[in-house]
Amino acid sequence: MHHFHYKESELYCEDVPIALLAQEIGTPAYIYSHATLETHFRTFDNAFKGIPHIVCFSMKSNSNLAIVRIFSRQGGGADIVSGGELYRALKAGVDPARIVYSGVGKTAEDIEYALASGILMFNAESSQEIATLNQVAGRMKKKASIAIRVNPDIDPHTHPYISTGLKENKFGIDIRKAVEQYKLAAELRHLDVCGISCHIGSQLTTVSPFVEALGKLKQLIATLRKSGISIRYLDLGGGLGITYDKEKPPHPQEYAGAVREELNMEDLTLILEPGRVIVGNAGILLTRVVYTKSSGEKEFIVVDAAMNDLIRPSLYGSFHAVQPVRTTGKEKIKADIVGPICESGDFLAKEREVQVLEAGDLAAIMSAGAYGFSMSSNYNSRPRAAEVMVSGSDYHVIRARETYEDLIRGEKIPDFLKKA
Ligand code: LLP
Repeated sequence: MHHFHYKESELYCEDVPIALLAQEIGTPAYIYSHATLETHFRTFDNAFKGIPHIVCFSMKSNSNLAIVRIFSRQGGGADIVSGGELYRALKAGVDPARIVYSGVGKTAEDIEYALASGILMFNAESSQEIATLNQVAGRMKKKASIAIRVNPDIDPHTHPYISTGLKENKFGIDIRKAVEQYKLAAELRHLDVCGISCHIGSQLTTVSPFVEALGKLKQLIATLRKSGISIRYLDLGGGLGITYDKEKPPHPQEYAGAVREELNMEDLTLILEPGRVIVGNAGILLTRVVYTKSSGEKEFIVVDAAMNDLIRPSLYGSFHAVQPVRTTGKEKIKADIVGPICESGDFLAKEREVQVLEAGDLAAIMSAGAYGFSMSSNYNSRPRAAEVMVSGSDYHVIRARETYEDLIRGEKIPDFLKKA
């Protein structure tokens, strides 16, 4: 469910015509619907009502302060993977006691910052990291609460770049070696070993891999309890998929139902790290056609958004629907929708049936709220797009379009190069 819809022939976000936003803010721009974001978070959170749980929004999917703020106001926590994401989460008002920290390469500085901030728990991904966590906590005269992220070797049936719980992936500690690592960690004075975590992949469209992972985690918890290691938090990661095209992912209610049934352990607090399912369909990338051209064999629609704004089609071959902002009833053509970047990989859609679009027309690249802006770059020295949040009949710029000055911020020509 989302709030991008047509009123007669005009595409709206909530009560604001998208064409008006293009006129006032320019293109390319990311447009988010506040109502959609709020509803998605609430629906997900409510689905777990009745069991102790924390919904830690996965900041990598979209870390704009205003967006994270919507969730922190509703009691949401955050799943972070860097000092930068921690900084953003705190600025957005997330309670540090509801922040979990994953990632295979946390440095001593990252750990120090997170410990000083009082986060809930680190999801440790290697024995060396566990040692560093202990050292840094000892130096700071603190205890670090940790979960061990286990790799359960489960095939999530998703794109290989976004599957993370197979034994050939770099993430977590092999579940077969986990008990040994837990025992070693439990001996360390500056650690409180209190959790178990996993994240098996992203854009999952069935519940069975989650249930399978949960089953393996439960077994491990039972074994650990026999060894006197008491686990209080079970972090199931994120990964629930959304509809980009024709996928039919489970509704959060169905996902939560399956998790509840399999979990069945009341003394655990469940942690969930959804990203895409909350923000994916709550945002679009708005773009304007610059030119159209035909190679004789192929039609190209050249737009002002590019792979630097939305890299998913180029990187994963991902599908994003392309909708006209004004429907004209003109015939449909098959075209590649491409950006101005100097790479053949710079496309937003390939061989796509779209209404004939002409120079100056606006198009919406749908389902761009997750891993859209957050993966954008300045490649080809393109200032990053503006971000706008629509709420009812109001809109707010939540990140200004970058300027040329922003592009060179921090760069310096050393004196010796200044002489002619
Ligand atoms: N927790 C952990 C530890 C993760 O690694 C991820 C995503 C999530 C939670 C959130 O997963 P979600 O609910 O959004 O599926 N750039 C790719 C997706 C990479 C996902 C990486 N990890 C894309 O654009 O599809």
